[in-house]
Amino acid sequence: MIEDIPSATAFGVCAMRAFEDRKEPAIRICEDSYAMKFLELNPKFSGSNWLARNIFVPGRKKLREIAFHLLLPGLQESIATRSRYIDDVLQRHLRRGIKQLVILGAGFDTRPYRIQAVQEQQVKTFEVDHPATQKFKQMAMGKMLKQIPEHVEFVSVDFEKEKFGPKLLQQGYNPKLKTLFIWEGVVMYIGQEAIDETLDFIVSHSTAESSVIFDYYPQSVIQGDHPNPVARRIQRQVKKAGEPFTFGINPEQITPFLKERGFVEVKPVNLEKTQQQYLKDNWKKRKSVDFALIVEAKVGSSDLKCRTRRFAP
Ligand SMILES: C[S@@+](CC[C@H](N)C(=O)[O-])C[C@H]1O[C@@H](n2cnc3c(N)ncnc32)[C@H](O)[C@@H]1O
Repeated sequence: MIEDIPSATAFGVCAMRAFEDRKEPAIRICEDSYAMKFLELNPKFSGSNWLARNIFVPGRKKLREIAFHLLLPGLQESIATRSRYIDDVLQRHLRRGIKQLVILGAGFDTRPYRIQAVQEQQVKTFEVDHPATQKFKQMAMGKMLKQIPEHVEFVSVDFEKEKFGPKLLQQGYNPKLKTLFIWEGVVMYIGQEAIDETLDFIVSHSTAESSVIFDYYPQSVIQGDHPNPVARRIQRQVKKAGEPFTFGINPEQITPFLKERGFVEVKPVNLEKTQQQYLKDNWKKRKSVDFALIVEAKVGSSDLKCRTRRFAP
């Protein structure tokens, strides 16, 4: 990421959710009524840049749809599907009584504000993100809400430079409470060491039945030689934006990768099937790219004390 500048890719995925939110209900995959406001508050999208002015402003729906369809077919569908899928997973965990939610690389994720049960159940939510993105998020949420709800705690950290575990513990994370970790649209931007450290923290500092969900791309997307031209185009664009892809893993490796790191019940998710379920008869009109993958996994049931090491608060 570029130091001091809020993540360009966080605005990118936020834009996809904002545009999705404005689609007709029959073809809408996910909802996020806060998303457009983040774009409106970013001077880049209301300033002199032609593309930004014409593509990102709320009124230019037709132009935007044509541009997306021509340049990045299926990308918005994949981002919207992963967002909806993770919303549904969160709702399921809320019904099962999680007490904490940790959103890693939160960007402009608005789940703590828009998912009613998070608020009703006062689920302690930690938004962990790079200081530059988080500063913008706090400013924007401050403008959208009268005040930041008490159940939300902002944890500012650069995964590449510091360990997030001690900060999370210092800010009140309780390893004894059942927790869901959401890591959406992040692992592809950070290095293997930071990924291992994060997974290690989750396994060694969460109670059994806690879970993690994250999305990832195969290595060919990261390397820029995936057969789908959309994958190659995104790879070039994120590099140009100063947030190059760094980590990829092929789908057949994901289960052993997570089991080796102490997770159980690893569940790779087929986004294409999920999309059919959300869009019913309309899914063929809005097909997602085929390289976006999701996985869920649980922390095993062995004694927390045996798994706890390294991260003193
Ligand atoms: C593509 S955005 C995804 C944001 C959000 N999870 C979503 O799905 O809308 C990537 C996020 O990862 C964060 N990120 C990237 N590199 C990071 C780092 N080294 N330390 C902390 N956060 C980082 C960015 O600030 C950004 O919020």
